[in-house]
Amino acid sequence: MKNHFEKANVLITGGLGFIGSNLAIRLVELGAKVTLVDNMLPRQGGNLFNIEPIKEKVHINFSDIRNELSMNYLVQGKDYIFHLAGQVNHVDSMRNPIKDLDINCKGTLVLLEACVHNNPSTRIVFAGTRGEYGKSVHIPVHEDHPTNPVGVYAVTNLTAEKMVLVYHKVKGLKGICLRITNTFGPRHQMMHDEYGVLNWFIRKALDNEAIPVFGDGAILRDFLFIDDLIEALLRSAVSPSAYGEVYNVGSGQGISFKNLAEKIVTITGEGRVAFVPFTRERKEVEPGDYVADIRKIRKATKWAPHISLDEGIRKTAEFYRKHRDHYWKK
Ligand SMILES: NC(=O)c1ccc[n+]([C@@H]2O[C@H](COP(=O)([O-])OP(=O)(O)OC[C@H]3O[C@@H](n4cnc5c(N)ncnc54)[C@H](O)[C@@H]3O)[C@@H](O)[C@H]2O)c1
Repeated sequence: MKNHFEKANVLITGGLGFIGSNLAIRLVELGAKVTLVDNMLPRQGGNLFNIEPIKEKVHINFSDIRNELSMNYLVQGKDYIFHLAGQVNHVDSMRNPIKDLDINCKGTLVLLEACVHNNPSTRIVFAGTRGEYGKSVHIPVHEDHPTNPVGVYAVTNLTAEKMVLVYHKVKGLKGICLRITNTFGPRHQMMHDEYGVLNWFIRKALDNEAIPVFGDGAILRDFLFIDDLIEALLRSAVSPSAYGEVYNVGSGQGISFKNLAEKIVTITGEGRVAFVPFTRERKEVEPGDYVADIRKIRKATKWAPHISLDEGIRKTAEFYRKHRDHYWKK
């Protein structure tokens, strides 16, 4: 594929987090000039070690996407904007819904307004969630599936997505919305289990502890390795037919939590599987089975996932075995 990113000016909101930092590393490899904006929200994935390999090659702005003056300045001259800053913690979104609303909705609106007034020709990729669908009526889940989110985080993501689409339609901003499945890999936060379940399972295995699987572990989920997600973000940004569209991004394969935990024990050679009851907080935001139908993005951008679940787990375990001290203390 042609390299559209060589010498391109790129802004990544939430750039010190899991997805943002992996994207920044890939963009630097492609020759882009990368600016990261991040407010280091406590208990989320912002971590300076994430950008260790490229720290001399990117600009970092420690700011909040809700800050209009910062965003008005930061969007200027950017060819592409990847909007990854957000309140990501599903459980916390129910404990502290106003913060979730403020960051995910107001933050997105501030960014869109900044673009309209300071850089209307830029392209914006918004990282939404498969949680926007809520409980699956059928599987795999196509983009036309009903959207009935079960938690505040998923509602604010759906609202932010709709704002990107309205700004595309009414103000001509080139926005692309992705509904991303559970993604895992290096550079995800490993401090707590409130989001990023596969990474949490790997941490438990590497600590040689019990991997806690809720209920009977039969719920199906679709897990995607980070490198495949990064490729999907890049391809959608440079596909003009994707502007104003919504795409699922996932592996297209389902696996139960039970089988996932067993696989992690086998691959890492550590940990053990333990079944535990759902907590009330977890039950409240649990939408049940999910597997993405990825035909739409495949057709529009020629993207397809390439890294198997086994290979992704191996790569992730290898990363944290080497860099554990930067992610958690035992
Ligand atoms: N990781 C996944 O599986 C997944 C799945 C679906 C959607 N998403 C979405 O992708 C985006 C990135 O997720 P992630 O997994 O990289 O999470 P992350 O917690 O690792 O990264 C999010 C980053 O955003 C920053 N941030 C939060 N609020 C901010 C604000 N107001 N101003 C500036 N920076 C702010 C945080 O400090 C953090 O570094 C989120 O919007 C999330 O909802 C992620």
